[in-house]
Amino acid sequence: MFSEKLQKAFNDQINAELYSEYLYLAMKSFFEEKHLKGIANWFNVQVQEEHAHALGLYDYVHERGGHVELAAIAKPALEGDSTLAVFEQVLKHEELVTSKINALVDVAEGEKDRAAVSFLDWYVKEQVEEESNVRQLLGTLKLIGDDRHALLMLDRELAARTYVAPVIG
Ligand code: FEO
Repeated sequence: MFSEKLQKAFNDQINAELYSEYLYLAMKSFFEEKHLKGIANWFNVQVQEEHAHALGLYDYVHERGGHVELAAIAKPALEGDSTLAVFEQVLKHEELVTSKINALVDVAEGEKDRAAVSFLDWYVKEQVEEESNVRQLLGTLKLIGDDRHALLMLDRELAARTYVAPVIG
């Protein structure tokens, strides 16, 4: 039995993942317009990953016989105007998503829904990886500083990132 309370928490997380997709789409556009195609590609992979995260939750609600209720997705807002500032926002955002996933696990535990807790374990681990990847990139960007040549080298490196559909759950 999938409780109403847990169903609502899953629906809220679907919205949070779709917002992440939308935020990264806005960031992709920011870099497209700066002609940093490799960084834009990195965000394009993020967009696809967030979509998969949302659909994983969406499918799970249905698998449990629940009801998916989609809500409006907020307008994404970029907080800075530099490569470093955008990636600082990404880290802040991923830390927020981590806290939301943890809160969702808390609800599943509170409802004594072991199946949901087990399913959500994938998301808990994914957040560790997401935060780690962004911290690594932030460190590189801090080393790069104002060196445009080094930034272009990073851009070339990030152009090679490809999307691999995750196996969720
Ligand atoms: Fe779906 Fe980047 O968290």
